[in-house]
Amino acid sequence: MDLMQTVKVDLGERSYNIFIGEGILSAAGDLLKAVGISGKVAVVTNPTVAQLYLDPVHDALQSCGFEVTPVLIPDGEEYKTLATLSTIFDRLISERFERKSCVVSLGGGVVGDVAGFAAATYLRGTPFVQIPTTLLAQVDSSVGGKTGVNHSRGKNLIGAFYQPRAVIIDVTLLSSLPRRELVAGMAEVIKYGIIEDPALFGQLEEKLDRLLALDRRILTEVVATSCAIKARVIEKDEREDDHRAVLNFGHTVGHALEAATNYQRFLHGEAVAIGMAKAAAIAYQQGFCDTMTMGRIIKLIKMAGLSTEIPEGVSTQSLIQGMEVDKKSADGKIKFVICTGIGHTCFHSLTAEQIGDALGT
Ligand SMILES: NC(=O)c1ccc[n+]([C@@H]2O[C@H](COP(=O)([O-])OP(=O)(O)OC[C@H]3O[C@@H](n4cnc5c(N)ncnc54)[C@H](O)[C@@H]3O)[C@@H](O)[C@H]2O)c1
Ligand SMILES: [Zn+2]
Repeated sequence: MDLMQTVKVDLGERSYNIFIGEGILSAAGDLLKAVGISGKVAVVTNPTVAQLYLDPVHDALQSCGFEVTPVLIPDGEEYKTLATLSTIFDRLISERFERKSCVVSLGGGVVGDVAGFAAATYLRGTPFVQIPTTLLAQVDSSVGGKTGVNHSRGKNLIGAFYQPRAVIIDVTLLSSLPRRELVAGMAEVIKYGIIEDPALFGQLEEKLDRLLALDRRILTEVVATSCAIKARVIEKDEREDDHRAVLNFGHTVGHALEAATNYQRFLHGEAVAIGMAKAAAIAYQQGFCDTMTMGRIIKLIKMAGLSTEIPEGVSTQSLIQGMEVDKKSADGKIKFVICTGIGHTCFHSLTAEQIGDALGT
């Protein structure tokens, strides 16, 4: 195992460490022991990820004395449901999992969200550890404690805030990730640079090619920086009462685009990339940032191979509708995240129509 970086998420008694490094999957057993976990461990994963990484995780845990139960759920967002959750409970109950037994998620954001919600609710809460395997999960969904499932009427409508005991991020796992998933995850990394960190943004402008070529040293550094940025935001506002909303930069339009295209056309990060480009354009139009800031944002998104334009055929009206069902403040306006310069943001209340009008111009 090479060098490992540690990012602490400081949430009082719910504090935990995120371990990031190359090849640290083999240390999973030691890391679980180090956070006080013992006995039974359910590794929740899907067939795609199991085929690639279940054996090494199984061995790493078993060699440290853990009793491992693999729990497979089907692959895909459409299985992020109460029905899938129920199958996990069935296994935990039939395997006689106790309150101190542990649930480990091994997979992308879907597995992490479902497994996390299972851990949050089984016997009113069992220890939970995330082993994220997509870039999106490594820099975003595994950090911050949001867990849950979808309902037929909307995404993530059922869930809980539940922090893991540890997050184990092995960047070498990204080598098997389809390129499209990798690039989509990069949108969230770019977002962190825009909202909080000019140095990260500069590093991406310089080294994006090497990052996308999976240079492990740079990847470890950038994933650790991204986790640290999200951790600092969460520490200020764990339950999204206020400041955490800064993480929604690019997501107002991004979510609307996903909804307007029935969640079929775009990966989340692809829609967010367009949303970020449009948010930058709106910030410029409204006098919040200069043309140079907008230009750098749009250029970096394009460099990643992501689109910055709303595709033809998606009407402004359908986007306005999508934004209206998204989170709103009490006055019916949307708390739109504006970038005032690289690394700086403010909130600006806008109606869905105002955002739609700005998109149309
Ligand atoms: N909890 C949060 O804070 C939070 C934040 C953002 C997104 N999310 C959720 O995350 C989900 C999206 O996560 P995602 O983008 O990771 O998608 P995903 O979990 O569907 O994974 C994408 C695909 O990659 C496969 N895969 C995973 N790791 C792989 C690897 N190393 N090699 C090869 N294939 C691999 C998966 O099996 C899947 O087919 C959504 O449900 C979203 O709501 C949650
Ligand atoms: Zn996102």
